[in-house]
Amino acid sequence: MNREHHKLMNLNPIGVVHSSFTEATGAPIQPAFAKETQGTVEVYEPYREGLKDLEGFERIWLLYWLDRASAPKLLVKPYLDRVQRGLFATRAPARPNPIGLSAVRILSVENGSIAVAELDILDGTPLLDIKPYISKFDCYQVARNGWLDRVDSARGIADDRFYDRSNQETDI
Ligand SMILES: C[S@@+](CC[C@H](N)C(=O)[O-])C[C@H]1O[C@@H](n2cnc3c(N)ncnc32)[C@H](O)[C@@H]1O
Repeated sequence: MNREHHKLMNLNPIGVVHSSFTEATGAPIQPAFAKETQGTVEVYEPYREGLKDLEGFERIWLLYWLDRASAPKLLVKPYLDRVQRGLFATRAPARPNPIGLSAVRILSVENGSIAVAELDILDGTPLLDIKPYISKFDCYQVARNGWLDRVDSARGIADDRFYDRSNQETDI
């Protein structure tokens, strides 16, 4: 396979996520720990037609750019463990391609704006894609969840270990 061919990939945000979380510290680490949170997914005008038929789904996958993540690390200490794990065996945001993935619950779909609940996404996060969450495709009963099977204390709130404050946009 010619890897050169794959070097340049263009991503255009199709929208932006609005939430009450302005920094990593205090944000939920996954939608499963974010039952009470609500936010809005704003889809930009040229893409809105694609939202047709979405209201029939209970959940959507949001794919987004973790724009304030710190530099990639291949070994990380995840929020739910005390030891270092391989990055690709975790959901840590400090990734070579900082793409986030969250299955959030739809509250309503109106005029390019999707009200959602159960989100772990910072305010102003660029949105890359939306896909329906489909239980027939996306829900597997699995017997093993790697190192997470040995985690008993679930601390579902983030701190700033994967957060790069200097990535924040300023008003200048
Ligand atoms: C552990 S990551 C998991 C994200 C996603 N659910 C996943 O599995 O890909 C969740 C944390 O990412 C951080 N986060 C969310 N949006 C971000 C952004 N735009 N830039 C940097 N960090 C972000 C928040 O601190 C949140 O607690």
